[in-house]
Amino acid sequence: MGWRAEAKNRMQPPQGNYTPPPAGRDTALPPEIPHHETLKWIGGGSYGEVWLARNIMGVHRAIKVISRSRFESDKPYDREFAGVRNFEPVSRTHEGFMDILQVGRNDSEGFFFYVMEAADDQVSGQVIDSETYKPKTLMSEFKANGRLPFQTCLRIALSLADSLQHLHGHGLVHRDIKPSNIIFVNDIPKLADIGLVTSSTDAATFIGNSVGKIRMPRQAGGRARRTGRRTRPPPPGRIRSPAGSHG
Ligand SMILES: Nc1ncnc2c1ncn2[C@@H]1O[C@H](COP(=O)(O)OP(=O)(O)O)[C@@H](O)[C@H]1O
Ligand SMILES: [Mg+2]
Repeated sequence: MGWRAEAKNRMQPPQGNYTPPPAGRDTALPPEIPHHETLKWIGGGSYGEVWLARNIMGVHRAIKVISRSRFESDKPYDREFAGVRNFEPVSRTHEGFMDILQVGRNDSEGFFFYVMEAADDQVSGQVIDSETYKPKTLMSEFKANGRLPFQTCLRIALSLADSLQHLHGHGLVHRDIKPSNIIFVNDIPKLADIGLVTSSTDAATFIGNSVGKIRMPRQAGGRARRTGRRTRPPPPGRIRSPAGSHG
């Protein structure tokens, strides 16, 4: 039996109220996260799953779990981990970043995780009821409200521009700015999904290769090639403009 199947066998259903992912995802159960009770699967992308959890102090957190099995080889998985390691101390230096509060890695079970602040609930903000919880992101705002008021767009755009300036000042670039990665905590828009953050020198190394095309590191065996996702980060205006024209 491979390590992944063994890991699945070792997972135990969480106690109490637990809302699993919808059928079809390959992760029915969350891995065990030290000192946290996993309450609910919130969402997932190509490489990770996000869970709502409660720590031993009773505070709600969001935990992103990144599985080795989602990657073709160790290299992109380790690069994802390195991105988290680079960003973790920086995350708490600006209110426009999603705080990373704890990072853990379990090589025998093939995953690493990081604990974040939980996004506001779409209805009740930081008053979180795990049964009904739905995180408030810029994407959820578009879906719920369509076109956002100009003042709201301006506030979000200015806040993000400031966050990005701060990130770049630390020699880091984000590379996946999109509405679902802009997450509200106490109504402040925060940049999330820092697994995609890389040092700007690493990114620059791959820009402008011999055929004159932009080639970011992930195209050399990582996320971009597998998912076909756009590799050049859009300028902040690209986030602002759907906010103002959607619906
Ligand atoms: N800190 C957080 N608090 C609450 N929900 C979150 C948090 N981070 C991510 N999420 C939710 O988890 C979903 C999945 O996140 P992710 O795996 O990064 O994929 P994507 O960003 O492509 O949606 C997000 O769309 C968002 O709704
Ligand atoms: Mg994300």
